Amino acid sequence: MSRFFTKTLEELEPYVPGEQPQNQKYIKLNTNENPYPPSPWVKEVLTADEADKLRLYSDPTCKTLVDALSARYDLEPDQIMLGNGSDEVLAFAVRAFCDENTPLVFPDVTYGCYPIWASLNRISTKIIPLEEDFSIDPTKYYNAGGTIVLANPNAPTGMALTRDQMEGILKNNQENVVIVDEAYVDFGAESCLNLIPYYDNLVVVQTFSKSHNLAGARVGYAMAQASLIEDLNRIKFSFHPYNINRLSMLAAAASIQDVAYFRNCCEKIIRTREETAKTLKEMGLEVLPSKANFLFARTDRILGADLYKSLKARGVLVRHFGKPRTAPYVRITIGTDEEMKAFLNILGDLLRGQGA
Ligand SMILES: Cc1ncc(COP(=O)(O)O)c(C=O)c1O
Repeated sequence: MSRFFTKTLEELEPYVPGEQPQNQKYIKLNTNENPYPPSPWVKEVLTADEADKLRLYSDPTCKTLVDALSARYDLEPDQIMLGNGSDEVLAFAVRAFCDENTPLVFPDVTYGCYPIWASLNRISTKIIPLEEDFSIDPTKYYNAGGTIVLANPNAPTGMALTRDQMEGILKNNQENVVIVDEAYVDFGAESCLNLIPYYDNLVVVQTFSKSHNLAGARVGYAMAQASLIEDLNRIKFSFHPYNINRLSMLAAAASIQDVAYFRNCCEKIIRTREETAKTLKEMGLEVLPSKANFLFARTDRILGADLYKSLKARGVLVRHFGKPRTAPYVRITIGTDEEMKAFLNILGDLLRGQGA
């Protein structure tokens, strides 16, 4: 930190992203990307003509993509707002809906960026511990006294609340905004999308990074009643009006229209997840019930940190989080069947080496 860095943010501890090695050396199961390429429709729209148009600014209203999302989800265009990844959408939402009198409310084990955005904006937090089994008790969020952000499914556990449970939270927080981060919802959880007409306090956030195979394009979106979207746009146009670049906008619009390809990839990932979870359990690991494109698993035979290191030494990247409740576990992204088979073989060898 230089002597010029603002004293008001001295305590800020930035997010540490999962490793992104720029080679093919690893079986990469660490950052919840989709193992399958984007829809073939994406390649068709990324033409040389479009590359030429990069001399022009992108459309700050993101009309092409907003219209594509509006058609796909049966919402009005003024109910949708685009961000540079859902990270940006969520960060804008924290900026818009929290302040010195309105804390950000979230679980002790969840997406690591939530406390960081609170810290960046100098907003206080109200942290509600997960239950012993890592589930969320929705009633603990009733009348929360702040803006709630819940990843559903949660990360890194993969466990999900039902739509009815989420509706209980919405009903019992008429005075609070509830942000539902649905980054992983397409892998088997229930979306809150169809609750939008009934709740003026609901913001649903989704992303193209996971189920739409476009993590590198950096596109996420909020869906809510028009008044909340107007608030989010006030922040966006005060911060970064051209936040979505031309090529990513085209790629995302093509991808959202190829529903058959999207469904096929999600189904494959869900099937692979269930088979992998079954095998891990047969190998004696404890695996949390996941509705996401990853599994959170542990074994008594080796510490989470050591398992992460040993797998990396054998060419497999998974993710380890060193906080007290998560330290025994590793988070394993679901790859292709071939990748998971190779991972399970390597894990089996490794555990046998531990005397199992
Ligand atoms: C729960 C959750 N929300 C949001 C994000 C951000 O995703 P992106 O900015 O790629 O849309 C992630 C990324 O891993 C995540 O795990």
